[in-house]
Amino acid sequence: MSLPQPSGARLLSLGTSLPDNVVTNDDLAERVDTTHDWIVDRTGIHERRIGGTTSGLATDASRQAIERAGIDPSTIDLLILATTSPDRRVPATASTVQENLGLSCGAMDLNAACSGFVYGLIAAHGFINLGHRRILVVGAETLSRITNWDDRSTCILFADGAGAAVIERTDGEADLKGWHVASNGALEDTLFCEFDGKLIMSGGAIFKNAVLAMERSALHSLEMADLTPDDIDIVVPHQANVRIVEASCKRLGIPFEKTSMTIHRTGNTSSASVPLALDHAVQENRISKDDNVLLVGFGAGMTSASAVLKWNGV
Ligand code: ACO
Repeated sequence: MSLPQPSGARLLSLGTSLPDNVVTNDDLAERVDTTHDWIVDRTGIHERRIGGTTSGLATDASRQAIERAGIDPSTIDLLILATTSPDRRVPATASTVQENLGLSCGAMDLNAACSGFVYGLIAAHGFINLGHRRILVVGAETLSRITNWDDRSTCILFADGAGAAVIERTDGEADLKGWHVASNGALEDTLFCEFDGKLIMSGGAIFKNAVLAMERSALHSLEMADLTPDDIDIVVPHQANVRIVEASCKRLGIPFEKTSMTIHRTGNTSSASVPLALDHAVQENRISKDDNVLLVGFGAGMTSASAVLKWNGV
């Protein structure tokens, strides 16, 4: 078998899943020394969803994406599950999701923390270039399982959820115009979780580096796409802290009004946050055909990733 001719891809559909259980800031204030106003003021978060399993949330989001795409699941060639909170150490949670969905295809987990979905999306475009036809990319997390609920500096941030996308080969115009992935392992100790441990974070160091990493990554992708920040119609950022997004947008010269934000009701769902915010923008009719969409994330590692898509449907 010889390698096929390279081909482009487009994002065909999106799906999401959030646990039913809503945990408000006031709920947290009953357990740790904090207030609703402090959390809103410092993070933008009003409430978050907690519960379920990573594979369960991923399965539900994937089912919705497959249904919205109107495709036969047997035509999916690969499942990439971005997660930093897998159900088990072995096997990959992607294998559980594959079985739940009844797929017969390749399946793997990808851990790039909160940049994971964007890493997965870019990897999917690469696999399609190598001959795959349809790929399911999922970002899913149950960070609540690795959160220390007695640590007020982290428990106010993290939450659970999933988002999924079907990426399909196209003979028409490809949607990926620019991309960038990076990691700075020297900062690995700013956010980590040992096996059987809980997340430990240096919030200030992450804040400062996240703002710079988002700006740097976005500029790389824009340059590859031959675009400037002025050309971007909507920014879909990782939802870690509304102040990080505001600061990054300011440095890029993109008005904050151009962002899609869900953090107020979802908290930080790591690799699920970009697809959740992208689907939110689609549901709100904020994206039109041919719009330039900037996806940008950062996370533990310290990873960062961005992609510029010329919106081609959904
Ligand atoms: N309620 C009330 N007070 C609090 C709380 C709380 N929940 N948490 C911390 N404080 C206190 C601190 O103890 C400190 O008190 P002190 O001055 O008496 O020592 C004071 O508030 C200020 O603390 P800072 O840490 O300076 O507060 P800051 O404004 O930096 O906000 C925050 C903290 C929200 C954690 C911020 O640093 C942040 O969002 N950082 C980025 C975190 C992030 O994005 N992590 C995810 C990375 S992505 C991934 O891979 C999952």
